[in-house]
Amino acid sequence: MGWETSFRLSKAASQLGAEEAFVYLARSLELKRRGVDVVSFGIGQPDFQPPPHVISEAKKAMDEGFNGYGPSLGMPELREAIASFVSEEYGVDVKAEEVAVTVGAKSAIFMAMISLLEPGDEVIIPDPSYPLYESVARFAGAKPVFLRLHRGNGYKVTFEEVEKLVTPKTRMIVLNYPENPVGTTMDQRDVEELVDFSAKRGIVVLSDEIYDHFVYEKKHFSTLQTSSWRDAVYYVNGFSKTFGMTGWRLGYVISNKELISKLSVVANNIYSCPVTFEQIAAAKALKEGLSWFKPILEGYRKRRDLIYREFLSIKGVKVVKPEGAFYIFPDFTEVIREKGLKNERELADRLLEERGVVVLPGTAFPKEGGKGHLRFSFAVSENDIVRGIARIKEWIES
Ligand SMILES: Cc1ncc(COP(=O)(O)O)c(C=O)c1O
Repeated sequence: MGWETSFRLSKAASQLGAEEAFVYLARSLELKRRGVDVVSFGIGQPDFQPPPHVISEAKKAMDEGFNGYGPSLGMPELREAIASFVSEEYGVDVKAEEVAVTVGAKSAIFMAMISLLEPGDEVIIPDPSYPLYESVARFAGAKPVFLRLHRGNGYKVTFEEVEKLVTPKTRMIVLNYPENPVGTTMDQRDVEELVDFSAKRGIVVLSDEIYDHFVYEKKHFSTLQTSSWRDAVYYVNGFSKTFGMTGWRLGYVISNKELISKLSVVANNIYSCPVTFEQIAAAKALKEGLSWFKPILEGYRKRRDLIYREFLSIKGVKVVKPEGAFYIFPDFTEVIREKGLKNERELADRLLEERGVVVLPGTAFPKEGGKGHLRFSFAVSENDIVRGIARIKEWIES
């Protein structure tokens, strides 16, 4: 019968969507190989290295023999360090038994959805948002219900708008703030009301706060600072963004200790345990604190201000100033119309092919909410921001 029959994908696996940032990454590498001078606003990856004390601790841990399996929920040293770090950051009292170390934030999100959702459950997901949420919700057989973010509501998630979408079938509400791709964050009142409401209704709040240290206006207010988080919140964070450790694949969950202990079996079935020597180094990263990060954040704030100003100066582009993360999500609807293009996908393709500028189409996140928009990661040098936007302006005017 041939390989098509032998290797037909399950219905569940066919529901998975690829994160398009990785597709564009491959396309930009191909262009670079052909000698094109590429400016990439594509993948959401910090452009700094982990601090030297973390790298040296990882090498030392390998030399000292931390190369074997470890506990599925993570090394006790790191679970303790995460609990202390988060408790100090947010002024709360998280215990090590409420923490699970995971293989990147991605696997934390995957585990939440496959462990907590039943077929037919509804999951409220912002649109636009990080594409994994929709993809994995469908994989789990659940039904995504989209909360549309748009310029009219400042691209912000509010309690009232979420509440309107809740039905008896709602099982999970996904929050991501600061938000990828829009760069907005949530207000304390909305977070508090949402967690309180969800706890009373028995709904899980999956709160992906991986950009919590990339905030430019006010301090991040976490779901862990609410009074009823232990009844509803599945908090996700990780080392990829704040510590520049995307390739290490280290993340973590904080939630009710009963759930955490059940996740041990799920984690064990997927990956046995997170990488052992990395966890020793990650514990060091947390214990040393974030004083090294302050100048980096200042640099990112300057980039945010610069790219925002640049977009304000392009005719036909509408843009909201990001409050956090390192993304900006301008609306190019008018440009697309004036240039006679089909949509934002054609715009992204043309900028890549004709000017070597990598941007992601808004509909990669993952639906209608991103129509007419492009996502730019400003985790790039100021020089690249100026060069890249100049090319876009010149292309629009050509
Ligand atoms: C909102 C959001 N959550 C999770 C992740 C994945 O993080 P990790 O590298 O820890 O898997 C990303 C990466 O871009 C992200 O933007």
